[in-house]
Amino acid sequence: EGLADDAAAAPIRIITGHVVSPTRDRGRTIDLEHGGIAVQGDRILAVGPAGEVLDKYPSASVEAHGDRLVVPGFVDCHAHYSQMTMIASPGLQLLEWLKNYTFPAEGLFADRSHCAAMANFFTDQLVAHGVTSACVYATVHPESARALFRAARSKSLRIMTGKVCMDRNAPDYLLDTPEQAYEQSLELLEEWHGVDRLEYALTPRFAPTSSSRQLELLGRIAEEHPDIPIQTHLSENPSECEWVGELFPDESDYTAVYERFGLVRKRSVFGHATHVSESELDRLGAAQASLAHCPTSNLFLGSGLFRLKENRRAPGLRIGLGSDVGAGTSLSPLASLNEAYKVSRSVGEPLESFEALRLATLDGAEALGTDHAVGSLEPGKEADVVVLDPESTPVLRQRTDYAQTTEELLFAMMLLGDDRAVHSVYVAGAKVR
Ligand code: GUN
Ligand code: ZN
Repeated sequence: EGLADDAAAAPIRIITGHVVSPTRDRGRTIDLEHGGIAVQGDRILAVGPAGEVLDKYPSASVEAHGDRLVVPGFVDCHAHYSQMTMIASPGLQLLEWLKNYTFPAEGLFADRSHCAAMANFFTDQLVAHGVTSACVYATVHPESARALFRAARSKSLRIMTGKVCMDRNAPDYLLDTPEQAYEQSLELLEEWHGVDRLEYALTPRFAPTSSSRQLELLGRIAEEHPDIPIQTHLSENPSECEWVGELFPDESDYTAVYERFGLVRKRSVFGHATHVSESELDRLGAAQASLAHCPTSNLFLGSGLFRLKENRRAPGLRIGLGSDVGAGTSLSPLASLNEAYKVSRSVGEPLESFEALRLATLDGAEALGTDHAVGSLEPGKEADVVVLDPESTPVLRQRTDYAQTTEELLFAMMLLGDDRAVHSVYVAGAKVR
């Protein structure tokens, strides 16, 4: 309430540039070559042709970005902040990669100062890559989640995170128990859920590292908190899927394991889902659940090819984009879209420019259940805005000089761009970069 009062009194600022944004109406993209966004406090007041917005608020201050692209802050639906020290570790597929590289790196989070340093680094890098909202895994250590909440809060980022719950099939130093997972998750939820732009995400790592008892207790939290997000991994890799079949012989498929414990619902965000059946997709959609498409990770680990357009056909299913750093190889949503395009070509259904922008913004917000607040440049939404520079590298400049349409320009940005293309970032109305 305090925020709203301040906002009404706050000065109005106008950001001008080439404004491009998806809208709630899937068929309509805002494309204003000379556009303007009026911002007051943390909110978008108006979006339109620059002349009209400037006329409407004649006393507003102006931040002019010329030909630069002004787009919504990017949404990363799946990342591990604990994995920045082992990103780009080669040669192995998922299960061996976890054992050899990932678990040792996560063990370092037993140290509070490591948690704080990594949380600061990671949130700085989110901003540097134009990511203003993210759903992020911490580690098994409750302090790792706290450190990320604190860092995200200090930068006003819209972050969901949770302590990872895992009580088997990992080194002892990374294991909790069902009761600890329950108590620590609840405690963190009570401390942080709904504080500023933060939400607690219930975070069982994946079925192989949680006992039935642990999943049952987490299902109890889910039941008592029907609106909180849940994040986990689903059907990423063939050996993983086979293993889940052995560990849960009574369940008909991988999705059924999560269903049994009440973990499949709106705001359940399943990473990967590269090996799911029609039946699983239908059930995930019927539950209004979400998938995170993590193309750089799926290609890096050789996990499989996500069928974006085919999966979209499941009614009710929400699909966003995830970096899945550190199996993913870049925090840049532009880099993820680059790979998403190549995956889409390989499965025969090429991703188009505006669709790609939507995937990295509003689709992600829908997948995380935050599309009422972010994901597009529309009046009333929180002012998370990214300004992309088409001249950030010599090759980009050369190519974009010859772009005839906005689609062509955006496509070049996503195939050739990375964090160097992120010129400015506004988080909840504040220019932070
Ligand atoms: N499955 C379980 N844990 C992980 C993880 O940390 N990264 C990826 N890519 N898959 C997982
Ligand atoms: Zn992951």
